[in-house]
Amino acid sequence: MRKGALLMAASLVLVWGGTSQALAGDAAAGEELANTYCAACHGPEGAGMGPNPALAGMSEELFVGTMRAFRSGKRESATMGVLSGSLTDAQFQDLAAYYGQFEPVAHEFRIDGPLHHVSASVCQTCHEDIYRQWSGSMHAKSTALRDPIHELLYRRVVGDPRKEGEIHGASGRYPVCLQCHAPNAAKDQVTKLDAKDAYAEGVNCVACHQISGYKGVRRAEGGLRLGIMAYETSGDTLQGATGFPFDMTANEQAEGNPHVPSGEVDTFGQVIPAALPLQGNPRMMRSSDLCLGCHHLRPNPQGVPLCATGDEIEASGSQVTCQSCHMPIAEGFANHSMGGGHDPAMLSRAVNLTIDVEPNGDGVQAHVVLQNQLPHKMPTGAPFRNIQVKVTALDAAGNVLWTNFEKHAQQEDPKSYLFYQLADDEGKPSMPPTATQVGIDTRLEPHERRVLTYAIPVQPAVVRGELLYNLVFEPMKPQIMKLTDDAELLETRRMAFYEARL
Ligand code: HEC
Ligand code: HEC
Ligand code: HEC
Ligand code: HEC
Ligand code: HEC
Ligand code: HEC
Repeated sequence: MRKGALLMAASLVLVWGGTSQALAGDAAAGEELANTYCAACHGPEGAGMGPNPALAGMSEELFVGTMRAFRSGKRESATMGVLSGSLTDAQFQDLAAYYGQFEPVAHEFRIDGPLHHVSASVCQTCHEDIYRQWSGSMHAKSTALRDPIHELLYRRVVGDPRKEGEIHGASGRYPVCLQCHAPNAAKDQVTKLDAKDAYAEGVNCVACHQISGYKGVRRAEGGLRLGIMAYETSGDTLQGATGFPFDMTANEQAEGNPHVPSGEVDTFGQVIPAALPLQGNPRMMRSSDLCLGCHHLRPNPQGVPLCATGDEIEASGSQVTCQSCHMPIAEGFANHSMGGGHDPAMLSRAVNLTIDVEPNGDGVQAHVVLQNQLPHKMPTGAPFRNIQVKVTALDAAGNVLWTNFEKHAQQEDPKSYLFYQLADDEGKPSMPPTATQVGIDTRLEPHERRVLTYAIPVQPAVVRGELLYNLVFEPMKPQIMKLTDDAELLETRRMAFYEARL
């Protein structure tokens, strides 16, 4: 649509006033260039087409500036880089004059650049519920901009998540952390994570829905490729669990669905592609492989495994997929909350705690039974997760008669402390980046049933058991709390509770 006469008049006034440069371009010459080189992608009259942005109504300044940026490589685009390089400044102005005369078009799902630059907010437009679930998950908070626990360690071993050119100190290379914690930034090998929403969003919609194949984390020659490097990705096509039937265009369901072509054709008779093309890939989307590139294992520079959830499941022989527990179907679709240690409801289902009590001289003997329900260790994941098994004997009035530890589970009753400790060469505790071995590992093995037996020297009315979960070790807490206002983040959580009444 041509711009209204009023608008034209207004720009003429500006030109007469001498404040603006006169339009140097020739719109007729521009039209010829546009139809020859540009319309196939940007649509007739620059209205935009599929993922290609609209050009209609761009100001001359913006248009010419953008074309120059493509030509110099300042703005990266394989297609536009080549095209702009074959045109002169005068031709940029002709094209600007042509496209500038049309009304700007609000192109609905305009995607600037490659799929891995697409923000979750684009998907939110239609997938509101899934977006909300994802927003509350650690996937949405996986970068050092949004997770203070990760931030503490990231700042120590890498640096500032808002600065470009940061390196991983120990290896002197691009920070490996970002391959898993900020996969879209890793694809571009950048470290300034606030530069794009799609970087800051960490493991966002396209980070998972662009995964088309799993190569495995171990290279043939023995090295590792972690996170997004362990996957094949699909260029511009989203991956879904089912996809849509190929004749979907003839189906009324296609209406308003940007993942299938609408069947409309452009002025050249070409079928206009889907705005957000999607293909069915149940082999990936319904398999643990989708998660394993990031969750399999993660060794530090000395090769000591941290976060080895995938390895643990493999060793357990379990065939149950991650999705069946972490993405249950509720209200008709796969839930994207993906809870773990940060989610009290998820935690409460991990270990079944019961207590059997039998007479023992003047007192009783309590068998505290811990049944790990999971095909991975408990706790799994990050090296500072820990659980205290607290056992208390009470009289009928609720007074405490006996307890297995007062303050320090590890010192007073080592078997009641479930954790793993990274250690240095001498076996002394060490932080993840510097550890050379796994020191102590008292965690529950996959599906393990463990019985802790206590001789309680009194006659109680109740023997109470509690599992107390902490995301991090106590000494780390003050440092992390400096990085967040979330007072509840590091609170000890009672993940299981049982009372045997005598
Ligand atoms: C093969 C498809 C293709 C052709 C042909 C093509 N473009 Fe593009 N163009 C794109 C894509 C894709 C982008 C988005 C690039 C990005 O942001 O990385 C783009 C972006 C642009 C932009 C930036 C728009 C914005 O909103 O920032 C301008 C301007 C542009 N093209 C002009 C042209 C002109 C002029 C021609 C013809 C000389 C042309 N393009 C031909 C695919 C094409
Ligand atoms: C951690 C990876 C991951 C992230 C992040 C993710 N998804 Fe998914 N999504 C999946 C998997 C896996 C499935 C398939 C589940 C199944 O069918 O077993 C899925 C399924 C879906 C489905 C189909 C749901 C159904 O059951 O009908 C939609 C729609 C979807 N995702 C949209 C999104 C959107 C929108 C976002 C971002 C807000 C997002 N996804 C983020 C992994 C992910
Ligand atoms: C204009 C609306 C719209 C937008 C924007 C949109 N979708 Fe969808 N999407 C749909 C519709 C409609 C369906 C089909 C019904 C359903 O499954 O919810 C669908 C289905 C899906 C499915 C399931 C496909 C399958 O194989 O079963 C996935 C995955 C998905 N979308 C991912 C995304 C992602 C990721 C984004 C953002 C990059 C996105 N969608 C943006 C409308 C949209
Ligand atoms: C691109 C890498 C990537 C993929 C793919 C991925 N994740 Fe994650 N996931 C992460 C990262 C990074 C975190 C940790 C974020 C943090 O705590 O800072 C995480 C966190 C989690 C957590 C929460 C842990 C907690 O502390 O509460 C669960 C559960 C989880 N992922 C399950 C899955 C499942 C299931 C899949 C496959 C369907 C999957 N992830 C796919 C990278 C990934
Ligand atoms: C039988 C159900 C089940 C299966 C199968 C399962 N998980 Fe879990 N997972 C859980 C429960 C329950 C928790 C909560 C306990 C916890 O956080 O340690 C959990 C916790 C986690 C955590 C959080 C660890 C942390 O540090 O907070 C991650 C990561 C995780 N699972 C990843 C996976 C991956 C990846 C797979 C597949 C390879 C998988 N899980 C398979 C049930 C399951
Ligand atoms: C192979 C993928 C991968 C790499 C590489 C990786 N991480 Fe992680 N990281 C994860 C996953 C997955 C989780 C969360 C689930 C879990 O606890 O297992 C996680 C969790 C964490 C946590 C705990 C976050 C929380 O909220 O409790 C910290 C801290 C952390 N990573 C730091 C780092 C640092 C620093 C680097 C780089 C030196 C790094 N990670 C590299 C996958 C990775």
